[in-house]
Amino acid sequence: MLEIHNLHCYFAKGTVNEFHALRGLCLSVADGDFLTVVGSNGAGKSTLFNAICGTAETDDGSIVLDGQSITDWPEHKRARVIGRLFQDPMKGTAPDMTIEENLALANARGSRSALSRAIRAADRALFRDELAAYHMGLENRMKTKVGLLSGGQRQAMTLLMATIAKPKLLLLDEHTAALDPATAQTVMDITQAIVKERRLSTLMITHNLNQALTTGNRTIMMNQGQVLLDVSGSERSHMTIEKLLALYTQKSGEQFAADRALFSAAKAAEC
Ligand SMILES: Nc1ncnc2c1ncn2[C@@H]1O[C@H](COP(=O)(O)OP(=O)(O)OP(=O)(O)O)[C@@H](O)[C@H]1O
Ligand SMILES: [Mg+2]
Repeated sequence: MLEIHNLHCYFAKGTVNEFHALRGLCLSVADGDFLTVVGSNGAGKSTLFNAICGTAETDDGSIVLDGQSITDWPEHKRARVIGRLFQDPMKGTAPDMTIEENLALANARGSRSALSRAIRAADRALFRDELAAYHMGLENRMKTKVGLLSGGQRQAMTLLMATIAKPKLLLLDEHTAALDPATAQTVMDITQAIVKERRLSTLMITHNLNQALTTGNRTIMMNQGQVLLDVSGSERSHMTIEKLLALYTQKSGEQFAADRALFSAAKAAEC
């Protein structure tokens, strides 16, 4: 369970460049919820993730995960309970280390002793089984350096690393956006399978409005550092992209400004 209350985040506070990126944001995520997060460019989606992970400092408000306030926790402590993926497949893995070394580190939640310890046969078997389920042939390349993998293979690896130690929360920031459409679909399929199997509470930022409405069980739309719309249940199952955009305009008084989202909406309409 994630409870975010009245979260504020400023950049360059007190200077002429001051920017109020999160403006009293409130959000409650139940255990096992899979939220998709959409919003205009600059709405504060990535900043929200940075605030949850502790990479962006917050100025007010609270973040409570599983009943425990993590608001004052340093980033490294939060990383033990929060898994995160970025758009860039180069982030999140150590390129000069092998697949099994990367997974061993993740499995030990980044503990320093993990590297000095030999990888146990049981761990190796676990990694092999997990990777085999992806049908990417990675289970036969355990001693390959991660830097040699394709973008899609790396995202699949990063996904496994982020979830192998069962985090309390998984944050996906457009993690398939840099991949070609077929690979993006494969990584999405793997994502859905992992989230379901491990019953992970998940937030996924996407610019694809069609994907936002069809993935997970709830969609939030952000605007100017706040949650503008929150749809779930039958309201969501009857929601169309056109209705969502109309609601956005009605509530914000603005046109939805996200080039990639509108492009994906146009493509969905063509199909
Ligand atoms: N480190 C920073 N310093 C100053 N301003 C920042 C910083 N990070 C983000 N911002 C600003 O905060 C606002 C929100 O940025 P954020 O990256 O959270 O938007 P987003 O919703 O993720 O947008 P996009 O869809 O383009 O990824 C933007 O106006 C951005 O320019
Ligand atoms: Mg962003």
